Amino acid sequence: MSDMSPQGPGAPLVRRSARPAPSQTERRRTVRPPAAADDPFFRHLVSSMRNGVIAVHRDGSLALMNDEAYRIFGLTRPAEDVGRKFTDVLHDRPAAVRVVASAFELSHLPNRAELRLKDLDRVIGYTLSQVKNDAGDVIGAVMYFKDLTQVEQLEERERLRDRLASLGEMAAGIAHELKNPLAGIEVMAGLLRRQVPDSENAQLLVADILSEAKLANAIVVEMLEFVRPVRLQVAHTDMTDMLQQSVTMAESKTNRGDVAVTIEMEEDLPMIEADHHQLSQVFTNLLTNAFEALDGRGKISISCVTGAIDDDPAFAGLQPPTPTVIVEVADDGPGLPHDAMDKIFDPFFTTKPQGSGLGLAIVRKIVNAHDGRIDVSSVPGAGTRFRVTLPVKSATGWFK
Ligand SMILES: Nc1ncnc2c1ncn2[C@@H]1O[C@H](COP(=O)(O)OP(=O)(O)OP(=O)(O)O)[C@@H](O)[C@H]1O
Ligand SMILES: [Mg+2]
Repeated sequence: MSDMSPQGPGAPLVRRSARPAPSQTERRRTVRPPAAADDPFFRHLVSSMRNGVIAVHRDGSLALMNDEAYRIFGLTRPAEDVGRKFTDVLHDRPAAVRVVASAFELSHLPNRAELRLKDLDRVIGYTLSQVKNDAGDVIGAVMYFKDLTQVEQLEERERLRDRLASLGEMAAGIAHELKNPLAGIEVMAGLLRRQVPDSENAQLLVADILSEAKLANAIVVEMLEFVRPVRLQVAHTDMTDMLQQSVTMAESKTNRGDVAVTIEMEEDLPMIEADHHQLSQVFTNLLTNAFEALDGRGKISISCVTGAIDDDPAFAGLQPPTPTVIVEVADDGPGLPHDAMDKIFDPFFTTKPQGSGLGLAIVRKIVNAHDGRIDVSSVPGAGTRFRVTLPVKSATGWFK
């Protein structure tokens, strides 16, 4: 049975009763709308909304709170919520209580405001309205809201992209200017070496000049690589091959020593659409860091499994989730330096005397270009774990 209004589509949804129309004074006395929450259409309309909705009566009792509202606030619906004080139902979300209560107090209600829930790490965009009866008296308030966390994250990524773009332009210019004098230093040091064949001290000094110039040159090359926009050459990529290759490449870049490396792959992993070369740079850099952190002793575990993510939680259940592969690279080394968690992906952040601090910045850039994400967790003294989540089908192609 459909819940259509008896007046047909377009007609206002008003339940008519057999009683004669109330007089003006009678109408003024009416405080609550006649059992609106009991109307099945009204109930379905509100519960199907993709926005969170919280409505309260003037006396502070809850008129309704839909499922999306409970989800966004991370609350479980109690057995009986309608009719209870909204301050009780939202007891664990005092910020939300303040916002709803303000709807009765403010003379100008915000059209679009934001609420940050620090404990849930969520950002909510909301609108407030007052509910008025025919006489214009305020009989309730409504808060409509949406989870903006993902939008915020995208904006943050956009800002970072802009920052890196201008930083990149500058860095590319400097790197370019440095390449020539560095090449000159290498050539001249080579000539000098031949002019002082008999002086051991001079030979040692020249060797130092050469190795420092080579290091500076390697940093310049890495910097140019970092600032260059990523252009993906997407092809079907086998994760097992890629990870094995990355281990070999990392071993060639640094000293593996006695470090044990295990690779665990889920059976029947799908091929993913990715740039094989660039993605292997991601894992090579992660493994190089792990080898460097372990300094010749310890374990590295690499695992690769399938997963799935909901692109927008508001569409959960409506859209099929995006299939992903999740690669974890974990070591049992010293863990990240204290307070470094926020900085390790920043270009030029390094704690190593010979590091350029571009390894993880390049990693993040390539993962982003694949529409993937990277997370890190670390326990001091127990190790560090990087988790790379990549969509099986991806690749917007360009990322500056
Ligand atoms: N597995 C790890 N264990 C402990 N610390 C790590 C690990 N991986 C990264 N780090 C920390 O993050 C910092 C930044 O890493 P990143 O790879 O960006 O630069 P780097 O290794 O110092 O230099 P390079 O440009 O040569 O890679 C490192 O200097 C180190 O302090
Ligand atoms: Mg590194």
